[in-house]
Amino acid sequence: MDFKKQPVIIKAIELAKRLNIKIFLVGGPLRDLFLKKRVLDFDLAIDGDLKKFGSLLAERLKGRFIYHPQFLTGKVIYNSNYIDIAHLRDEIYEQPGALPKVIPIKDIVVDLKRRDFTINAFAYDLLEDKIIDPFSGIDDLKNRIIRILHERSFIDDPTRIFRAIRFAKRFNFKIERKTLILLKRAIKESYLTTISYQRIFHELNLILKEKKFDKMFFSLSQLGIFKKIFNKSLSYWNIQKLKKLKNFKIPIEIVFIYLLYLLNFRKPEILKKEERKVIEELDYFKKIKRRLLKVKRRSEIYQLFSSFSFSTLKIIYVLESPLRKRIKIYEKIKEIRPLINGKELKKMLERKIIKNLKEKDFSKILLHLKLKRIEGKLKNKEEEIKEVIRWTQGH
Ligand code: CTP
Repeated sequence: MDFKKQPVIIKAIELAKRLNIKIFLVGGPLRDLFLKKRVLDFDLAIDGDLKKFGSLLAERLKGRFIYHPQFLTGKVIYNSNYIDIAHLRDEIYEQPGALPKVIPIKDIVVDLKRRDFTINAFAYDLLEDKIIDPFSGIDDLKNRIIRILHERSFIDDPTRIFRAIRFAKRFNFKIERKTLILLKRAIKESYLTTISYQRIFHELNLILKEKKFDKMFFSLSQLGIFKKIFNKSLSYWNIQKLKKLKNFKIPIEIVFIYLLYLLNFRKPEILKKEERKVIEELDYFKKIKRRLLKVKRRSEIYQLFSSFSFSTLKIIYVLESPLRKRIKIYEKIKEIRPLINGKELKKMLERKIIKNLKEKDFSKILLHLKLKRIEGKLKNKEEEIKEVIRWTQGH
């Protein structure tokens, strides 16, 4: 097979022979090779000293090795590619939804057996030059079928519910009948609520990155997955909004925040600072939208739109086309600054040109000057000084 000519694979095989350990190509990249897709990053499984193997391979590839002993995994990063390496392992699920305990093992078949779907559960023995396919994964690939390996699969690891939909839509495969029954049962019996939000968010982000993410979300919604987790489903129209944001090349992290907003997710303790902020701003936007649509005066445009951060404004810009003109005006006028700054106000105070101005009011007067300038009412510094004097007399 072609991948055997790849320099990284040649080097990995040489090293495995020298260390006298078994080495297998596994997981998604192997599946993708069988689907005739271009693969640059490989997944390897070995049955020897992972730290030693990973470090030596990294050395030979002039890269670096990141080792996670607690998961029995590691990553060699070289140029801009990477190779994931894992020790052959079994996983024990002590509680549904919790991360499994991993145990190093020697048998590739046991390692394959703990995996999610048959299409991800075959291996290529790189030393013996043969395929190991105990669950007929290659047949399922040919027949375009997503099939779990055992009845408890979705219960042990409910993130596989997301994965099943993701792979089915990505490859245009069908979820096998019994697998679908078990998937639906796991949803109905609320196993999704056993996984942490962190893991759910990870899965949602993986989906957002996919080309056909809209189809995937539609499917998740139809299966009642969002309703179970967020107590809210995602309508077709809302999915179209997410699509619009993505088509506009809005960064995935921001599209994800918008997804949380749509799903009514408001748990501050789970959200990151930026997420919390954008969601709050979007809630505020909803309240003042009608005012924004009517506002004409440039100073008011500035005041209203300055409540939103850059990310929120981007979302509004894409989704609310009647507001685009005003946002463009805002982007321009927000750069307008008064000619007088804080330092000069201080000097004016020292020289007693003005009285009654406390430092805490500096920002107020500077904003006042800015708004006047935005309105085109202050032409030069003299006029600004006069305005400052007037303002302090009036307060
Ligand atoms: N795996 C699993 N159960 C999970 C996650 C992963 O059994 N919940 C196994 C699968 O065998 C999978 C491999 O671990 O192929 C690697 O996981 P990951 O990199 O997430 O999956 P890929 O199949 O490589 O997916 P993608 O094509 O999206 O990168």
